[in-house]
Amino acid sequence: MTKLIEVDEQQQIFHLHNEQISYLLTVEAGQTLSHLYFGKRVRGYHGQLTYPRVDRGFSGNLPGSNDRTFSKDTLPREYSSAGEMDYHLPATVVRQADGANALNLQYVGYTVLEGKPKLAGLPAAYVEDDSEAETLVITLRDEVTGLDYQLSYTIYRALPVITRSVKVVNNGAQAVQLEKVASMQLDFVDRDFEVISLPGAHVNERHPERRPVSFGVQSFESRRGTSSHQMSPFIALVDKQTDEFSGDAYGFNFVYSGNHKFSLEKDQLAQLRLLVGINDYNFTWKLEPSQSFQTPEVLMAYSDQGLNKMSQTFHQLIGKRVVRSKYRDLKRPIVVNNWEATYFDFDEEKLKPIVAEAKQLGIEMFVLDDGWFGHRDDDYSSLGDWQVFAKKFPQGLGHFADYVHNQGLKFGLWFEPEMISYDSDLYRQHPEYLMQVPNRAPSPSRSQYILDLCQAEVRDNVVEQVATILSQGQVDYVKWDMNRHLSDIYSLSLPADRQGEVYHRYVLGYYDLMERLTAKFPDVLFEGCSGGGGRFDAGVAYYMPQIWTSDNTDALARLTIQMGTSLAFPPSMMTAHVSAVPNHQTGRVTPFETRGAAAMSAVFGYELDLTKLTSAEKAAVKEQIAAYNQMRALVLEGKFYRLKSPLDSNQAAWNFVSADKKQVFVAVFNVLAQAQPYLTKTKLAGLDKDKCYRNLATGQVYGGDELMNLGFYDPVVRHDFASQTYLFEAVTEE
Ligand code: DGJ
Repeated sequence: MTKLIEVDEQQQIFHLHNEQISYLLTVEAGQTLSHLYFGKRVRGYHGQLTYPRVDRGFSGNLPGSNDRTFSKDTLPREYSSAGEMDYHLPATVVRQADGANALNLQYVGYTVLEGKPKLAGLPAAYVEDDSEAETLVITLRDEVTGLDYQLSYTIYRALPVITRSVKVVNNGAQAVQLEKVASMQLDFVDRDFEVISLPGAHVNERHPERRPVSFGVQSFESRRGTSSHQMSPFIALVDKQTDEFSGDAYGFNFVYSGNHKFSLEKDQLAQLRLLVGINDYNFTWKLEPSQSFQTPEVLMAYSDQGLNKMSQTFHQLIGKRVVRSKYRDLKRPIVVNNWEATYFDFDEEKLKPIVAEAKQLGIEMFVLDDGWFGHRDDDYSSLGDWQVFAKKFPQGLGHFADYVHNQGLKFGLWFEPEMISYDSDLYRQHPEYLMQVPNRAPSPSRSQYILDLCQAEVRDNVVEQVATILSQGQVDYVKWDMNRHLSDIYSLSLPADRQGEVYHRYVLGYYDLMERLTAKFPDVLFEGCSGGGGRFDAGVAYYMPQIWTSDNTDALARLTIQMGTSLAFPPSMMTAHVSAVPNHQTGRVTPFETRGAAAMSAVFGYELDLTKLTSAEKAAVKEQIAAYNQMRALVLEGKFYRLKSPLDSNQAAWNFVSADKKQVFVAVFNVLAQAQPYLTKTKLAGLDKDKCYRNLATGQVYGGDELMNLGFYDPVVRHDFASQTYLFEAVTEE
């Protein structure tokens, strides 16, 4: 088998490559680890990218050297630190016992490993077989402090992907305070990029924004304690002419669910530095002698064929090598969730007819959302008390779960385990579990507070309460929600000099909960949620294969949200439901078929009172379910192509193509009707040009080349928010 990592020990050149990409680094003067190249695969390297020696005014030189032509301030680097002659933002800052924060990280050695080691306590991409990847670990050392930085680079054999992370080991005699440890640095010379990010808000997540990378520092970050609705932990760097199908695109996807920071710095020479890692805002980590600190991982994808290929790489990597659940390869059940149907106003008797109707319509799982526990009739109480609310389920939750199962449906249950209400038995018994700053009243959000997951006892309590319910064997699915962001950042369990660790320890605590519960209940399908898509990241995907994409269920709003999300994450990770109209978030009335087309383009379900549907709507539900059954594997496993964006036009369109290119699902949406409409065409992508495809609705057969190059006219419609779906199957030519 071809080696993926070649090391020229003489020239000190490291070449990571597969069939698609190359990544090159070397060691420069002063034992400085320097970046050479990341991009399309090259067979070899002959030294032509040695950084030119130029005397640059006000960019100083190596200590003890009179060579004015070499400066760390201009050299493309792999990992930088405070205290060097480098005026960019550094990758790491470490406060030492004497108050100094200078480091001089020098190359001391490397190892190459088969496969990919796990990251202790953290989610990360994995391999199923060591032959899938190789890992280069380079050690940089600061002699004065005795700190070692182990930079890990894993290259996958079959994907244009390199993953990166850093482990800091304190081999010195003194404790130090880490103030910043980025997971990666990537420096570019002579690239005039644009940056695509995914900002948003609650009910308005991940709206792509593309803008030039300008001089100075631009950052994309979360300081909310989670990966957030407000800024997804992802960016792409693209050339100006890059589009969905052509041009260079570099994607960076952070496998982390807490505060993140992507900073881009375009410097005096128009060179660019990208740093990705845990946000250094309110972050410190005390590292005692012999201890180590592991950063989370960044997934880097390179595409020379535009954004669709970059996204498909992430879809493949996250869908198949970050997601671990057994549901990774299983079909996900079609759900009906009672949240928008009833909110808190339900009891067993009211829910049973919805379940019975679900069975009639072919829905596969009933999900009981918020309000089944404690004495929760609204969102002011009971978080922390995960026992059934007897008023709503007088014969116990098991009785209702049995009813659901007897109807032939699976049973799902909502939890929000990281939270606590003042009005709860848990708070009355353990006020110290609530995250709070001494002598200050904590801030509510949705009238609820955060459990201090830094405390082992708190985590044990959560695991025990959730496990008690799951152990009864009646819950097939868990929706794990989180309806506020962190505040009052302090842990009563930590000493003063470790309070800067709280944000990160919270995330580690959350991962600990997820690891324990998903390992104990491997048959349960876990779905992540945080007021919709407030914690939608690859870290969560390691534990939960699917996430509620947004609390916004409006089909039109979902077009942008789902398309934006698809830049970084697979459709198999996004859940999407058909809901009632007027839509509860926007007041908009969209056609039933359009709501279906948007929801069927992801992990499909319903979120409305099925008993209130008209008979025509019930017939439509049956048709949607039949259609989804035909293409469920295609949507969950196929290649997803964005064809038209609602941000650029009056339309959105996408298609899915199966791995064997024999099945194609197309959805086209027309936002507003027009009196004198311009005609539009939809051209498909990713088909086999030599195959013939039958439109299953009309029976008409077309060549793959025709569908991709000629396309077809979109129908002229006389109503807003129209949609068309098409299912094609390859046929042998007639
Ligand atoms: C926010 C979720 O995103 C909703 O789907 C619902 O579960 C509510 N929380 C319940 O409080």
